[in-house]
Amino acid sequence: MPNHLTAVILAAGKGTRMKSPKPKVLCEVLFKPMLRWTVDACLKAGITDIVIVAGEDKESLESLCPECTFVCQQERLGTGHALMMAKPCFHGGQILVLNGDGPFITPETIQGALQQHLQEKNAVTLVSAILEDPTGYGRVIRENPIYIVEERDTSEEQRAIREVNSGVYWMDADFLETALVPETFQTGNAQKEYYLTDMVGAAGKAGKKAGAFPCLDSNEILGANDRKTLTRLNAIAKTRIIEKHLDNGVDIPFFDGVVIGPDVEIEPGASILPGTLLLGHTRIGAGCEIGPNSRLEDAEIGENSKIKASWLARCTVGRNCTVGPFAQFRPGVHLKDGVKVGDFVELKNAAVGNGTSIAHLTYLGDCTIGEKCNFGCGVVTANYDGKQKYQTIVGDRAFIGCNTNLIPPVSVGDGAYTAAGTTVDQDVPEGALAIGRSRQEIKENWADEHIAFKKG
Ligand code: UD1
Ligand code: CA
Repeated sequence: MPNHLTAVILAAGKGTRMKSPKPKVLCEVLFKPMLRWTVDACLKAGITDIVIVAGEDKESLESLCPECTFVCQQERLGTGHALMMAKPCFHGGQILVLNGDGPFITPETIQGALQQHLQEKNAVTLVSAILEDPTGYGRVIRENPIYIVEERDTSEEQRAIREVNSGVYWMDADFLETALVPETFQTGNAQKEYYLTDMVGAAGKAGKKAGAFPCLDSNEILGANDRKTLTRLNAIAKTRIIEKHLDNGVDIPFFDGVVIGPDVEIEPGASILPGTLLLGHTRIGAGCEIGPNSRLEDAEIGENSKIKASWLARCTVGRNCTVGPFAQFRPGVHLKDGVKVGDFVELKNAAVGNGTSIAHLTYLGDCTIGEKCNFGCGVVTANYDGKQKYQTIVGDRAFIGCNTNLIPPVSVGDGAYTAAGTTVDQDVPEGALAIGRSRQEIKENWADEHIAFKKG
């Protein structure tokens, strides 16, 4: 298949320098694992056949990238050895190789490098960049034929070269078929490893062409090997993404504590206030005001809604809603339009109809609530009996009095009322009032008789 494109992401490195208990490629930039950045760049570049070379701990990577094929590199003998492990997954055409710890590579660079690779009929085209400080990267030696020297193996003269190898390459599958074998690698290097970078020089030696595609933005090739560089990548990505939203007409008056993930979408005219984290695939409509001090992950917020000092995950909020301050939405909350959720309200698996108000100190879990209901202060669904979860259903225009306990499975009909302090454990019919509390008793002069109490 001459046009088949396969991406191979090298992700078996232990991350010794990161000192992390989890695989290095799962370390996060803007709260998104580096590996997922790389996979998404391939998908956006139109490459759907993606192979990931993982170590023994590949299960944790598999759940993050279910659309990819996995191969295991049992012994970590270097990047060249890692690519050898992927060889059974090649289907001809061109192979894109990427490091799983280089999150900023863009689809444009991937496509640009492919174009040059095909035009020049190269066996290998590496993506390079000119860095102010090339420390830590392999240097590109532009001789004929072109080759790469790892920093540890450079001469003093070579160390001064600022054009570096990104770890991203296009390679011709037919060339790899014969050249990707142990004999191609010089394991006499400082690390005694199979260096993938040797493939660049090997192309020239085999009478094939190799080239370099310099990417326009040198930040694209930055990788993270330790915590310091990871923090640096976070800072770069954070500023770049906030500036993109500012250019699109999003109002972010202060940068303080604002973190916006790479997959977040915000309509122009929304306002993001200090201390706000927008993560995952969060989408914010026009005219919204989010923050201060809020965290939204995979949340979809309709136009003109306000989320104040609240914590929301995996939910949808309609238009013209207000949430918070100090509300929490656990996964599965769906508010229609014009809903008000006030302070110290927690919702979970809850569908709430248009115009309903849940203003204070309430917990609603596993429930369906109709339109224009009013929840008084301190309503609680007792949705869990220690073994199982049960559903509460409330119709339209219901009025749930303060401190009502709803013990499901139970329903409250349209326009029904519950008196304050009621424990509802039977269905309340449409338009009825449920009162379930003990009657008040008055014991006259009780205090005088029971407590030593001096008047004046
Ligand atoms: C590599 C390149 C270097 C380049 C730099 C860019 C080599 C020899 N060097 O160096 O020229 O400038 O990337 O960031 O390729 N991995 C495996 N199996 C292994 C070893 C590594 O899967 O046995 C994976 C790692 O998880 C990582 C990637 O390969 O995602 C790169 O490995 P790393 O050790 O970080 O290479 P660098 O020293 O950064
Ligand atoms: Ca690296």
